[in-house]
Amino acid sequence: MLTMKHINKTFYLNSPDRRTILKNFSLSLKEGEFISVIGSNGAGKSTLFNLIAGSILPDSGKITLDNKDITFLSEHKRAVWIGRIFQDPSKGTAPNLTVEENLAIAYMRSKKSHLLKGITKKDKAFLRERISCLGMGLENRMNTKIGLLSGGQRQAVTLTMATLVKPKLLLLDEHTAALDPVTAEKITELTQSIVSSEHITTMMITHNLTTAIKTGSRLLMMDEGKIAVDIKGEEHSKLTVSNLLERFSQNTKKNLNSDRMLLQYD
Ligand SMILES: Nc1ncnc2c1ncn2[C@@H]1O[C@H](COP(=O)(O)OP(=O)(O)O)[C@@H](O)[C@H]1O
Ligand SMILES: [Mg+2]
Repeated sequence: MLTMKHINKTFYLNSPDRRTILKNFSLSLKEGEFISVIGSNGAGKSTLFNLIAGSILPDSGKITLDNKDITFLSEHKRAVWIGRIFQDPSKGTAPNLTVEENLAIAYMRSKKSHLLKGITKKDKAFLRERISCLGMGLENRMNTKIGLLSGGQRQAVTLTMATLVKPKLLLLDEHTAALDPVTAEKITELTQSIVSSEHITTMMITHNLTTAIKTGSRLLMMDEGKIAVDIKGEEHSKLTVSNLLERFSQNTKKNLNSDRMLLQYD
């Protein structure tokens, strides 16, 4: 459903500081895949998401989504199909608007309805129902300003907003990294349950090796702008931290421990 072919991206192209981040990068995603993306700081993971979402454009190469060439399509146009959640819980929601108002805006935007029409009673019931699926009691706080919620509650609402209308592709860029470990685990579980019940094709960047292995149906490990390890299918279901690190060393001829990669085990 998503293909990236021979993508090259260099920052500061015409300056002495030029930095090639992705070189001849290719990737193909199948409908319904849930891919965990892991790799050291600076490996190019967020750059990959920026290219997919259209926040930056490649120097060369081609990106397609459901066979449509989106390589140079604006970020705004792609946002209709691509949902994105960031690390910072305050991104993506308006702090001074209530839970219900934030949801209504996301809902109207994704339905392409005009905001001025407002939301109907039926819409309100739908939004409340979706929020109650989170199992956090937030359906009783629909009139609370989002800025008053905890980081975990906010990420849960953001997750609901991004999936109210099913996106073709959901990009999660370390969306649990700013949360305490227990809350992070809860948001990862919610992510898994929403993604699997709605069959959403998803890419999730994480720093946590154990989370990366446990979550999803495929694992990509990036290193210096390249895919160092790509594991799916039966091999994925048997994966452990030690054989993942072993595969990484085999493929990159580098020795690696989780400290050096700034990765965490549980
Ligand atoms: N917009 C940008 N301008 C210049 N350099 C950038 C930009 N975005 C990322 N980089 C550089 O690209 C490299 C990869 O960054 P990034 O994709 O954010 O890594 P990761 O998310 O894997 O930690 C880093 O060295 C970063 O400094
Ligand atoms: Mg990043």
